[in-house]
Amino acid sequence: MNRESKVAPIVWDTQLQLLDQRLLPHTETYLDIGTVEEAGRAIAGLVVRGAPAIGITAAYGVVLACRQYPDMNVRMQALDALADARPTAVNLRWAVERMRSLLLDGADDAQLEAEAKAIHEADIKANLTMGELGAQLIHPGSSVLTHCNTGSLATGGYGTALGVIRSAYASGRLTDVYAGETRPWLQGARLTAWELQKDGIPVHLVIEGAVASLFAAGKAKWLIVGADRVVANGDTANKIGTLSAAVHAKRNGAQVMVVIPTTTLDLGLESGDQIPIEERGSSEILSLGGNRVAADGAGAWNPVFDITPAELIDCIVTEKGVARPPFKESLAALKQ
Ligand code: MRU
Repeated sequence: MNRESKVAPIVWDTQLQLLDQRLLPHTETYLDIGTVEEAGRAIAGLVVRGAPAIGITAAYGVVLACRQYPDMNVRMQALDALADARPTAVNLRWAVERMRSLLLDGADDAQLEAEAKAIHEADIKANLTMGELGAQLIHPGSSVLTHCNTGSLATGGYGTALGVIRSAYASGRLTDVYAGETRPWLQGARLTAWELQKDGIPVHLVIEGAVASLFAAGKAKWLIVGADRVVANGDTANKIGTLSAAVHAKRNGAQVMVVIPTTTLDLGLESGDQIPIEERGSSEILSLGGNRVAADGAGAWNPVFDITPAELIDCIVTEKGVARPPFKESLAALKQ
């Protein structure tokens, strides 16, 4: 079975095409991305989203920048702007810096293109490995909650947390999959539900306000999520709402699994309070589908990630193995 390829958010065929995730699930349209600036705008505007997918897009964006700009200084400025398109996902900066060092070592167009493709393919491979490793931790008969979208759309293919859920479902371990709808952008309701439906995996959506009741009722034995950045002590930045889901999971005896490729590790930061948290525009909260729903005059605060402290996390699954507390030692050992 070709496990990873039912959904292809990023297509490279000498040029870049991105599945426009703003329009899913009802419209499937690819946008042509011809410049590094367009790649940066697509990342900032959530045409493509999810930490690994952002990193892969950026790697192809560097190829585009080098085709556009012969001057090395101009290229470097374009790469700096690309790396700043979103602040929290460390995969973005990781991919730009990996491509930049190759470029500074004298790589030509073909070598840069090959490197971007290698980053893309390595991510898919990592997801398949993590899917197996994570699934083995789940006892048959379990039910799980996931949050945001961590599937093929958020990665090179197959997914991180959703990859574990796919593998666990395929091996008959899961009874029920719950997905948080993920206000305000509805990554869960629009994207995760769409991907799972395509795979024939039944899903129950829950509003974030129901997550406490879900765990209190014993309806989910695991919270399984991805991350935008995991730092040296195991503190984890992920979609807003992850922290409260983790608190309620632990309070009710459920376990918390974070699933990340090692490209999402940032061992240069000691603890989660050092992670930059993206805040987006208030219109994402005040409006729905382009129509204002909030009372006139209301404002909003829209942080789109939160930090789950390491003490709420039972395991961090990577393609190099499963890290367990104390994470400072176990994550450092994995990264080598
Ligand atoms: O704002 P988004 O949709 O880019 O946020 C994505 C998430 O929070 C994901 O959970 C995370 O990037 C992991 S994706 C494998």
